[in-house]
Amino acid sequence: MGAQEVREGFVRLYGAEPEGVWAAPGRVNLIGEHTDYNDGFVMPFALPHTAVAAVSRRTDGVLRLHSADLDAGVAELRLDELAPESDGSWTAYPAGVVWALREAGHPVTGADVHLASTVPSGAGLSSSAALEVVVALALNDLFALGLPGWQLARLCQRAENVYVGAPTGIMDQTASACCESGHALFLDTRDLSQKQIPLDLAAEGLRLLVVDTQVTHAHSGGEYGKRRAGCEKGAALLGVDALRDIAYADLDAALARLGDEEEVRRLVRHVVTEDQRVEQVVALLESGGDTRAVGPVLTAGHASLRDDFRVSCPELDLVVDTALAHGALGARMTGGGFGGSAIVLAEATDVEALTKAVEAAFAAAGLKAPRVFEAVPSAGARRLS
Ligand code: GLA
Repeated sequence: MGAQEVREGFVRLYGAEPEGVWAAPGRVNLIGEHTDYNDGFVMPFALPHTAVAAVSRRTDGVLRLHSADLDAGVAELRLDELAPESDGSWTAYPAGVVWALREAGHPVTGADVHLASTVPSGAGLSSSAALEVVVALALNDLFALGLPGWQLARLCQRAENVYVGAPTGIMDQTASACCESGHALFLDTRDLSQKQIPLDLAAEGLRLLVVDTQVTHAHSGGEYGKRRAGCEKGAALLGVDALRDIAYADLDAALARLGDEEEVRRLVRHVVTEDQRVEQVVALLESGGDTRAVGPVLTAGHASLRDDFRVSCPELDLVVDTALAHGALGARMTGGGFGGSAIVLAEATDVEALTKAVEAAFAAAGLKAPRVFEAVPSAGARRLS
């Protein structure tokens, strides 16, 4: 939905022009999965799909929230009554951001908010981070808070971890807040240092497809938290702050030290090799060589997520296996896993046949048709008007 439509929706609801309209994108992650809560490396880029918010300030301690995507009316909340894990509805994301800003001492006195999003929800494409970041950016501008993107991302993560109650890392919010058009974001999740890496696939005759399996994942549910706890156990057993501190060259020695902790060994192996894969992809892209060489690294990442980290599922494996069997250069699940989306790197000339093959495989398996679209690295959060 465009800025104008969201502006008009605001006027209909609240009877006045909004003070401004902002947008924040969803993301795909090119490589670096389940590394962000291990202080490791990630490399997401922003999608053209965005959450858009029309917002005005209030001074009376009231927060009014409305979503054009839901049939739920206007929610009216009092700022002094906002409390973590208050209700579990969609309003927890924007309300959590207001709560996190105020907790950090920022003078937010109320707002009217009207939201609409084109980021597919439940697809592992960070629709919730987009919602959080667009609200954070709007309030940052309106209340002249002067916070940089990385700090807004931290506050949004706190909203999601504490207020919504999902123990996620920092990747999605940082991607939404900080990505730049035409680039992937190489992010060190330990200190949030960033590097924009140019990524122009079309110039090399390549495409990156997103295949949304339409199987819903629930990463606030137990499995995500279990993996996270397993990684923390691994770090504790190895005497490091985070698995990021295990160098790739020391992996075998670290695994040997874990003895018969089979599950922890698998988790550690994934995280340490995945960090290495991110560095490999960065080196390949920065060398200016053939981007096709990235393909096998993506595929190796998938195998590691499937076999070692065990967060894939039959539908994601079906996308990856079918795409590879039909000429893809590389393919992997993206995001938290347990459903959601896979990405496929392919020659532009193979896209049509490959898409048909994936659709046919889903039909043959009796699955709902997947949603397939091309992902072009797009802009991060911004003011539209
Ligand atoms: C979800 C979380 C992120 C990250 C990914 C896995 O998207 O929100 O913080 O952990 O899963 O890489």
